[in-house]
Amino acid sequence: MRPTFTPRRYLMCPPAHFKVTYSINPWMDPSKPVDLALAVAQWEDLRDRYRALGHTVEELEPRPDLPDMVYAANGATVVDGRVLGAQFAHPQRADEAAVHLEWYRAHGFTEIREPEHINEGEGDFAVTESWLLAGRGFRSSPLSHPEAQEFFGRPVIGLDLVDPRYYHLDTALCALGGDEVMYFPAAFSPGSRAALARLFPDAIIAEESDAAALGLNAVSDGLHVLLPQGAVGLFEPLRERGYEPIGIDLSELLKGGGSVKCCTAELRPA
Ligand code: ARG
Repeated sequence: MRPTFTPRRYLMCPPAHFKVTYSINPWMDPSKPVDLALAVAQWEDLRDRYRALGHTVEELEPRPDLPDMVYAANGATVVDGRVLGAQFAHPQRADEAAVHLEWYRAHGFTEIREPEHINEGEGDFAVTESWLLAGRGFRSSPLSHPEAQEFFGRPVIGLDLVDPRYYHLDTALCALGGDEVMYFPAAFSPGSRAALARLFPDAIIAEESDAAALGLNAVSDGLHVLLPQGAVGLFEPLRERGYEPIGIDLSELLKGGGSVKCCTAELRPA
């Protein structure tokens, strides 16, 4: 399939109150200073690039007591206009889930499910044409996978994450378009690696250095792939497949363990 652009609708949350005051993943070091003004400027640059490409970006109001809210991808999963709410693994982020659900209720979404099991939204769910890929091992409960399959009516493929640096699926794998993906095999258990190789024999395989730059934490609109600029090794393989990679500098948000995808929830229409 040739890469094809389709305009998207995204939900983002400005990092007005972003800070690293606790550590719930190996990237977070509360002793390292964060430049808030720079974080805001980098985030605005990402938002403005989406808009310049023709996408709609909605903004969620940040809350001062929820410093990780900038990682809006974790707040829910939206497929076919249906919203599966999140339930966070750590108490520090628990209250984000309700803020997201409230936003969806206020914006005309009617098919909304409050989750029974822990799932961190698109942090652990990735949507391809045929499948809903679902990560487990660090955050989302394996029980959230059948819950998502039942709610969305899409076949779920459960994938075991084994490296704490790649604690969410979206740090280790990116859906590019159709059933095309790029991923970092070492982040997955041997069985999940074998399953990925069967499902995606033509996938772009990321090197360690690109994965460590959070290069897989990328957003594709079917043609443009916005990804951390440090993941230099991914640009050429993407171009070879007809995608247009766009490097993004989110150095400050990397300090919380997230990048482009973490900041971007996609509202997939019915
Ligand atoms: N500090 C946040 C956490 O550990 C980062 C979340 C990143 N988001 C993502 N979609 N991977 O929960």
